[in-house]
Amino acid sequence: MSQQEIKRTAEFIAAATRGFTPEAGIILGTGLGGFADCIDVAYSLEYKDIPGFPVSTVEGHKGRLIFGTVEGRRVVAMQGRFHYYEGYAMSQVTFPVRVMKLLGIRCLFVSNASGGINTSFRTGDLMVITDHINLMPNPLIGPNMAEFGPRFPDMHGCYDPQLIARATAIAEREGIKLQYGVYVGGTGPTFETQAEYRYFKAIGGDAAGMSTVPEVIVARHMSLPVFGMSVITNCGLSDEPGDHEDVQRQGRKAGERMGVLFREMIRTL
Ligand code: HPA
Repeated sequence: MSQQEIKRTAEFIAAATRGFTPEAGIILGTGLGGFADCIDVAYSLEYKDIPGFPVSTVEGHKGRLIFGTVEGRRVVAMQGRFHYYEGYAMSQVTFPVRVMKLLGIRCLFVSNASGGINTSFRTGDLMVITDHINLMPNPLIGPNMAEFGPRFPDMHGCYDPQLIARATAIAEREGIKLQYGVYVGGTGPTFETQAEYRYFKAIGGDAAGMSTVPEVIVARHMSLPVFGMSVITNCGLSDEPGDHEDVQRQGRKAGERMGVLFREMIRTL
């Protein structure tokens, strides 16, 4: 997707939302679409009605962009994201993040489901993503879009330390248990073999997933502060097989706690 296409889509959206300027972008992952209920909706655009937008194909993923306020702060939320395993190019997977940046967002909140590989994690835990290991093709491969950011972006503090500290304080106050860890992003769509989960653990991972990393890399290319959170929907190193239904169910169960946390973080932006 070219810079021209990104600009055109942003201009279309700005016109369709009468110049609504979101302060924060939110990517609602598996089972966490319920957070949309926390948004006082001003505008809602189906992906299929937005020129240039890919359309999500995974069951349980809605495809729309929601504009509104949460605790008085203006946000844009993606209900449904694009995964590399669906067959999209990395430029399509990350296209909405570029567009949201042009619309004005100043930080990005990302959620996902992942398989725990840290053996102290339990199903249903919330994990603050403190760092990631990218095992997918890098979305910045290709000519650099210099208007957006540098050729060789630095990845220190990829997940904003101040936002992590804020999440910790809020969770303490609200009595929400948090885990912290490194998210390993693979392509999927297979869940990992037992040997692969052991490998992910050996290289420093705490949870395995199939999303998030491309969007975060592109957000960091544009210097957007990022906060990421994972719902641990299964434990990779246990004997239980991975199951998409379980992932959805655990996602919904954890969604409420995560919603409280996200809402408070947005309130105090
Ligand atoms: N692996 C990869 N992605 C996932 C998993 C997993 O175990 N669980 C939820 N998403």
